[in-house]
Amino acid sequence: MFITFEGPDGSGKSTQIRKLSEYFAQQGYCVVVTNEPGDTQVGAQIRDLLLNPVYQGITPETEALLYAADRAQHVRQVIRPALEAGHVVICDRYIDSTIAYQYFGRQLPGDFIECITRQAIDGIMPDVTVVLELSTEAAERRFRRRAEENQADYSVPDRLEQERMEFKDRVNEGFKYMAIHYPQRIMTVDASGSIEEVWQQILSGLRERNII
Ligand code: TMP
Repeated sequence: MFITFEGPDGSGKSTQIRKLSEYFAQQGYCVVVTNEPGDTQVGAQIRDLLLNPVYQGITPETEALLYAADRAQHVRQVIRPALEAGHVVICDRYIDSTIAYQYFGRQLPGDFIECITRQAIDGIMPDVTVVLELSTEAAERRFRRRAEENQADYSVPDRLEQERMEFKDRVNEGFKYMAIHYPQRIMTVDASGSIEEVWQQILSGLRERNII
């Protein structure tokens, strides 16, 4: 079982992923929680290249190829072996992030995105994708609150978090577009509520799809 979580920065993916992994573990499953970019040794280097604000001159094409390189390594080294071993794999971001950020956000050509994504994933598609939907403004408010609370991950915005609001709005449109066009794979959850409200929506959505 391969489950991916998507949504804008600040939509609360990590918290919900933790709850879902605990849920599966309680049912006796072996769960692998992973993320993109950066979950392999080489991926950690790629993540730094992608998100460290010192690299301001990265072109959209370079950015897309780096995400694809991270994914190619991640699929072959982590995701596919775990799925073949019968584990539940929960991944924080996957192909829909590339479509939202590099296709909708950076407005790169669709055939380029499709080609590099196809090569990277080598046929490994999620069984279900949970998109946590949150407006750009609400995501920004959450980010600022966390920074004020001085949570280490939020103290300095990374290169993509520093992007303008128009870019983030396009990214959000991308997630909406994907959810509308691929309703069988993608379930959208309103992420504006409390942690428990969001969790209950995820549980009922996964039950409806016979995932849990
Ligand atoms: P995160 O690990 O904190 O979610 O940060 C990853 C950032 O990278 C986030 O801003 C989304 C972005 N991203 C892309 O632009 N394209 C991709 O394919 C992936 C996986 C992430």
